Amino acid sequence: MNVKLSASMLASDLSAIADEIKRCDAAGIEWLHIDVMDGVFVDNITYGNNVVAAIRNKSDIFFDTHLMVTDPTRLIPLFATAGSDMLTIHLESNGNTAENLKAIRENGMKSGLAVKPGTPVEEVYPYLPLCDMVLVMTVEPGYGGQGFIPYCADKVKVLRDYCDKNGITMDIQVDGGINSDTAAIVKDAGANVLVAGTYLFKAKDMREAAELIR
Ligand code: DX5
Ligand code: ZN
Repeated sequence: MNVKLSASMLASDLSAIADEIKRCDAAGIEWLHIDVMDGVFVDNITYGNNVVAAIRNKSDIFFDTHLMVTDPTRLIPLFATAGSDMLTIHLESNGNTAENLKAIRENGMKSGLAVKPGTPVEEVYPYLPLCDMVLVMTVEPGYGGQGFIPYCADKVKVLRDYCDKNGITMDIQVDGGINSDTAAIVKDAGANVLVAGTYLFKAKDMREAAELIR
């Protein structure tokens, strides 16, 4: 399977974000993963639609926006206007998940649905027709630099098997603790979009780190 990499901006030098995005482009990384945290759904507060808008003209890289917020509904048009290419909401967030996924597409973005490690992956099945991607979290959301949770790879495998059996071709993304070792495990399980923050941004050579993940 063709693997796409999504570099998690959380681990970048945020004081020089334009240069950091250029580094991703130069390393041949396809997507920029933008972790939006509201301080309620998870402990931290990161950045929002204004930052997305501010960096949009720095690169054509695909903006993969991961919303870790309690109430995503009213934010959907704001991120579309800001320039997000994909918006991923959590199944554990408030609001009507089906309506939110529809609204994401109606606003011209790709739709993603994320599950935390403790949420059974079968819970996404009813929503698959409305999703371009499912994000299977491989750490508890909220912080970068955590260790990969091995049982989450089993969830990826269950989902990929279900998709294959039902003729569904869909991106399956993993996020958290991805490095050259854990990448092999999740690719084997059927993931094809790999988010990596620490491993890419803290590497001596980002291009080489990206190749090692692939
Ligand atoms: C965690 C975020 C991740 C995080 C991944 O809540 O969703 O995107 O930045 O960071 P690493 O790759 O360092 O585990
Ligand atoms: Zn993320």
